[in-house]
Amino acid sequence: MRNIKQIHELVNAQLDSINFIAEPKQLYAPIAYTMAQGGKRIRPILCLMAAQLFDHDIEKIMYPALGLEIFHNFTLLHDDIMDNAHVRRNKPTVHQKWNANTAILSGDAMMIKAHQFVCQCEAEKLPKAIALFNSVALGVCEGQQYDMEFETRNDVTVGEYLEMIRLKTAVLLAGSLKLGAILTNAPEKDADLIYQFGINIGMAFQLQDDYLDSFGDQKTFGKKIGGDIVANKKTFLLLTALQKGEKHDKSNLNKWLSVQHADNDEKIIEVKKIYQKLAVDTESKNKMQAYYDTAIDCLLKVDGKQTVKQELIDYASKLMERTK
Ligand code: IPE
Ligand code: IPE
Ligand code: MG
Ligand code: MG
Ligand code: MG
Repeated sequence: MRNIKQIHELVNAQLDSINFIAEPKQLYAPIAYTMAQGGKRIRPILCLMAAQLFDHDIEKIMYPALGLEIFHNFTLLHDDIMDNAHVRRNKPTVHQKWNANTAILSGDAMMIKAHQFVCQCEAEKLPKAIALFNSVALGVCEGQQYDMEFETRNDVTVGEYLEMIRLKTAVLLAGSLKLGAILTNAPEKDADLIYQFGINIGMAFQLQDDYLDSFGDQKTFGKKIGGDIVANKKTFLLLTALQKGEKHDKSNLNKWLSVQHADNDEKIIEVKKIYQKLAVDTESKNKMQAYYDTAIDCLLKVDGKQTVKQELIDYASKLMERTK
């Protein structure tokens, strides 16, 4: 059994050994740029750890696992255009360093590469693996569409927000775990339980991402703080503030949501002040904890190796407290 650290190193080594550069350079250079930046590599790690719950031999599923990381990085290229984000992993985003058209097309190429990688699994597992991958990928698109639509809506509910983050983020983490299970012939019951573990971890993961977007440290987080506030993203923080706030706070928040050419820095400071006053960060932490607890319940029901479960529990709890 390999522990998380060893799996992480293995994933990095495998990715480093891939030469993403080909002709035309303009298409492939942004892919190499993105894949070389690191990142937490959560999705392949989850996939390989899930596989280890049921089987030692993870070498044969390395390509599908790497495909998940390529797919994730593709979503970031397009997401950064959609979110008008200029910095990721402390580096200029692809559409900033090159341009939006480059980020669109290199992103498309990454999606296709991801598909090629996922297809490199044992032939008899291919139909199930591809069906899962396709449904995950479509789920991410659906979530991203809701995310965009919510920017201009002012009646988004917490329930709608939770469904949106389930789609845009949680299904990929869950699908990564389930892919590991499917590729190692885990019983359907266990594959479903590990998927539910992933959904719940994914919900908590996106809540933390939204928290860090407002309250993180830019150098550590690697993304510009306040981006969600500027874009009027309907995060748990904002929706809870609109719910909890007195009349005065609500009208203040609504003013910031509606002013067309606000001074962004001032908007970030003022909205964060309201968040702090209403302690919505605590509510967010409580919500995360509830998802974490449910996640662990699901994992404990999986009929798999105890040592791997413990590694996954420790990993999940570290993700809850992450600062980057
Ligand atoms: C960022 O994902 C996008 C979200 C789903 C919040 P990660 O936080 O996993 O990004 P990297 O790959 O580690 O940079
Ligand atoms: C991430 O949501 C979802 C996807 C990339 C599919 P965010 O827009 O919050 O992710 P970051 O914060 O830019 O990484
Ligand atoms: Mg974004
Ligand atoms: Mg986004
Ligand atoms: Mg974010």
